[in-house]
Amino acid sequence: MNFSQVIAIDGPSGSGKSTIARLVAQKVSAIYVDTGAMFRALGYFCHQELGSLSATDQVINILDRVKIEYPGGDQRLILINGEDLTQTIRQHHVSALASEISLIPAVREFLLTFQHTLVDDHLCVMEGRDIGTVGFPHSLCKIFLTASAEVRAQRRYNQLEAKGELKGVNLKQVLQDMEERDHRDSHRVEAPLRRAEDAKLIDSENMSIEQVSDMVVEYYRQRVKETSR
Ligand code: DC
Repeated sequence: MNFSQVIAIDGPSGSGKSTIARLVAQKVSAIYVDTGAMFRALGYFCHQELGSLSATDQVINILDRVKIEYPGGDQRLILINGEDLTQTIRQHHVSALASEISLIPAVREFLLTFQHTLVDDHLCVMEGRDIGTVGFPHSLCKIFLTASAEVRAQRRYNQLEAKGELKGVNLKQVLQDMEERDHRDSHRVEAPLRRAEDAKLIDSENMSIEQVSDMVVEYYRQRVKETSR
């Protein structure tokens, strides 16, 4: 395993991490890993099994019989115990389940161990909340993406609309849910969402996807030069 082969992209929801990370992975021929999808899948699965995520000990017990698979590739497949949850986890209500289950330290440890198995000598673009701080603190290149809450909520709303997943949710509700989630993600005790000291901060508010991805690629190349000196 060579954890320095990781381009870590962290940031709050709707900051454009997935779009940018996928594009950067294409541009530098890297493997793309979406760690949020893992928390979503586990949150959804445990909620289905238990009806709630409030009994932490019961959630932890389930981990013993969970087999998570992330085969990678363009389809971004994610499976739990053989069940394909790729589409299911994109529903609006699953975001809150992911954020809630991510508070449990044993869940974070379980998924971190899994994430470490996905990284070998191949260059990898990994996106999440704690990749540069906790998951892969020796990443070659760290990015912290951000934008205002209003812009991020509008992006999330547009995504849900495009996928036909709005189901009666309006923009105000999306903004409110996102702010609640960001607060929980950045105030939790274990691996809170925050910018690593050595992460490059990119405010994507007034930038196009191409501009942001080019900036990340340029910074990555600069880091490769710096570290190979
Ligand atoms: O990126 P996303 O919206 O798919 O993430 C869903 C939730 O998963 C997010 O609100 C917090 C949690 N998460 C986390 O705690 N750590 C990560 N590395 C990725 C996601």
